[in-house]
Amino acid sequence: MTDDLLALKNEMDAALAAATDLRAWDAVRIAVLGRNGSLTGLLRDLGKTPPERRRERGAALNELKDALTSAIESRKLDLEAAALDERLAHERIDPTLPPRPRETGLIHPIARTMEEIAAIFGAMGCSLAEGPDVESDWFNFGALNIPAHHPARADHDTFYLPAQGNMPPPVLRTHTSPVQIRTMLTQPPPIRTIVIGRTYRADHDATHSPMFHQCEGLIIDRDLTLGHLKGCLIDFLRTFFAIADLPVRFRSSYFPFTEPSMEVDIGWNRRTGELGRGDDWLEILGSGMVHPRVLANCGIDPREWQGFAWGMGVERVTMLKHGMSDLRPFFDSDLRWLRHYGFNPLAPTMLHEGV
Ligand code: DAH
Repeated sequence: MTDDLLALKNEMDAALAAATDLRAWDAVRIAVLGRNGSLTGLLRDLGKTPPERRRERGAALNELKDALTSAIESRKLDLEAAALDERLAHERIDPTLPPRPRETGLIHPIARTMEEIAAIFGAMGCSLAEGPDVESDWFNFGALNIPAHHPARADHDTFYLPAQGNMPPPVLRTHTSPVQIRTMLTQPPPIRTIVIGRTYRADHDATHSPMFHQCEGLIIDRDLTLGHLKGCLIDFLRTFFAIADLPVRFRSSYFPFTEPSMEVDIGWNRRTGELGRGDDWLEILGSGMVHPRVLANCGIDPREWQGFAWGMGVERVTMLKHGMSDLRPFFDSDLRWLRHYGFNPLAPTMLHEGV
């Protein structure tokens, strides 16, 4: 290596040794190997060297370039290792610290009502049953004593699906009552069951949604009377609305699948919306003694077994309990609404008090 190259090498070695952090190191790297770097300049000038000396000069320059490049790289590794040591010496984390509790997510009011209904009737000995959303005409209507052309069919605003073969078209179930039939066909009496699920009717305004939820109850036993039905529903309503003396009225009505049938009203004040006080009545559910023909359709002998049943709108009781006037926000997924009306999943409720 000629003197000028040796001098450059010594100069750069000294500069690298003086660079004590990565920033200074990078400045040295650019000063040597950068576009205007000293070594880059020498390589560029190689063309000006007389031809007879060019080979020798070229070899010496390459040797210098290798030496400088490896010195620069190894200095970088040293500096990085030193920087890491420095960080590890000062940084401290304590993995045993507890996380800061922060709730995300709230229970939707409909889900909360369903949990409450299940807990109350569960405490009375009812199990939960389920059925499909798409039902045959027979389960949704026929077996429930609503034959073709029965006027009650017109009230249901049914969503029909495409028919298969000669069968009547299947439907999106218009009520949870078909699960009564499914339960009686698969389970011998006595039966104590409730169904909570989605139902569908072509209806849409502030108090109706094309998809909504119902709760259905079915009790089958020997020697059941209207008295049992009344006691069961009065207990449920007073517990659910948490009003011990809630007035409850049973009013004669008609459903094809029950005989006799009764609509159930609770006392409220129409003007203020307050439940349990005032002279007005509000219809809240439908009920009755299971029609002997419905029992017979399911192979249950009506001379040996009686039953009572009821059906109730989940949105409706939720709106009444929490003073909501519009049902549409239940399904809007508006986070502001959910934050206001949602339930803290950790807060104690009647569910934890064993009802
Ligand atoms: N299925 C009826 C409806 O959707 C509600 C109903 C009334 C259900 C009386 C019953 C009952 O089980 O006994 O309007």
